[in-house]
Amino acid sequence: MMALKLIGFLILLGLCVSCATAESFQPIRPRFSKDPGRIINGTLASMEATRHQIGLRKRLNDGYFFGTGHLCGGSLIRYNWVLTAAHCFVDQIIYDGTFLDKDLFIIVMGNLDRFNATNTLTFDIKQLFLQVEQFNVSTYNKDIALIELDGYVPVNHPTIRPIDLGALEVPTDTVCQVTGWGLTEEGYNSDYLMTVDVPRISDQDCRNSLLGGNILPGMICAGYLEVGQQDACSGDSGGPLVCQSQLAGVVSWGISCALPNYPGVYTEVSYYYDWIVKTIEDNEDGSGENSGSGSGESSGDHSGDDDDGSGEEDGSGEEDGSGDGGGSMIAVTCTLTLLLPALLALRH
Ligand SMILES: *[C@@H]1O[C@H](CO)[C@@H](O)[C@H](O)[C@H]1NC(C)=O
Ligand SMILES: *[C@@H]1O[C@H](CO)[C@@H](O)[C@H](O)[C@H]1NC(C)=O
Ligand SMILES: *[C@@H]1O[C@H](CO)[C@@H](O)[C@H](O)[C@H]1NC(C)=O
Repeated sequence: MMALKLIGFLILLGLCVSCATAESFQPIRPRFSKDPGRIINGTLASMEATRHQIGLRKRLNDGYFFGTGHLCGGSLIRYNWVLTAAHCFVDQIIYDGTFLDKDLFIIVMGNLDRFNATNTLTFDIKQLFLQVEQFNVSTYNKDIALIELDGYVPVNHPTIRPIDLGALEVPTDTVCQVTGWGLTEEGYNSDYLMTVDVPRISDQDCRNSLLGGNILPGMICAGYLEVGQQDACSGDSGGPLVCQSQLAGVVSWGISCALPNYPGVYTEVSYYYDWIVKTIEDNEDGSGENSGSGSGESSGDHSGDDDDGSGEEDGSGEEDGSGDGGGSMIAVTCTLTLLLPALLALRH
C-alpha cells in the first residue's frame, strides 16, 4: 500500500517536474491538473451565452463539498446528452491511457459559480461513448467523449439549454468563445465561469506553428498565433468552443497556455458530427427512460438540429429541485460502453 502510494506520488511528482521545465519543449498535456487554473486573460461569462456549459466532477470530492470535484468542462448538446473530451476520463495516476469508471463522475450544470448549487442539476452518467478503448496520451487523437445522462434537463429550465452542434467547418479567423472554470488546486477561489474570445486559426497556419505535426485530422486550433496571451488552460478541458452560436470545438490540449506560437487545440466537432448524431440516434430508441413521451428522438439529423428535441422531454423533470445533487445518489449500473472506430463515419 505505502509503496504503491509512494510510486503514485513519484509519478505525479515526475509529471509536475516535466511540466514545469517549460521552455524548450513540453509534451502534449491535457488542459487540466495544475497551473493558472482558468481561462487566461478572459472575462466573466454571461449566463445567456453559456447555458450549455456543464461541469464534469469527481463524485467523491464533490460529495464532501459542492464544487470541489471540478475536473473538466463540457457541453449539453441534447436535453440528456453531453459532449466532452475523452482525456477527462483517463486515469491521471497511471496515465497510460486507461479510462476510469464512469461512475466516479457526475455532471453538474446550471450556475456560473461552481460552488453555488442554486438552479443546478446533477446527473449520473448512464452511458459513456468513446472512440477508442485506450486513449493515446502521446497524440491526443480522438479526444472526444459523448455522455448519455441518467435523466433529462427539463425543457423550460431557467439556466440550462442545449447548444446546436456545428456540422460545418468553421472559417478561418472566425472569432469564437471558449469557456471554463479551470481547476485551482486548492479549489477555494470564487470560481465563476470565465470566457475568452479566440479566432480560429487555419489548419495550414497551425501546422506551421510550433505545434507542427502534432495537429491531426479532427483537431482545430484557435488563439493568437503571434502574441498568445489569451487561451484556454488547465481545467477547461472538455469545455465548449463556440463559433457563430454553434458548438465547434472541445477544449483538448495545448503546450503550456497562451504562449505565442502555441495556439490552443480543440477537437473538431464537425469532424465527429456524424458519429455524434448516429450514436445519439442509436441509443435513444427504446431506451424507455422515464421521459415517456416517446415522440421519437429527432426529426432528422440535419445540422440546425436541436430544439427539435423539445417534444421528447415532456414529463421527465425528475431532477428538478434546485438543491444540489439528489441525482448523484442514484446509482445506475451500466457498463462502460466502448464504440470502436468501425462505427465512425470519418470525413477524410
Ligand atoms: C447563487 O446563485 C444565484 C443564482 O445565480 C444567486 O441569485 C445567488 O445570489 C447566489 N448565491 C451566492 C451565495 O452567491
Ligand atoms: C500512440 O501514438 C504513438 C504515435 O503515433 C505511437 O507510437 C504509439 O504506439 C501509440 N500508443 C498506443 C498505446 O497506441
Ligand atoms: C494577459 O494580457 C496582458 C496584456 O493584455 C499580457 O501582458 C499578459 O502577458 C497576458 N497574460 C498571459 C498569461 O498571457
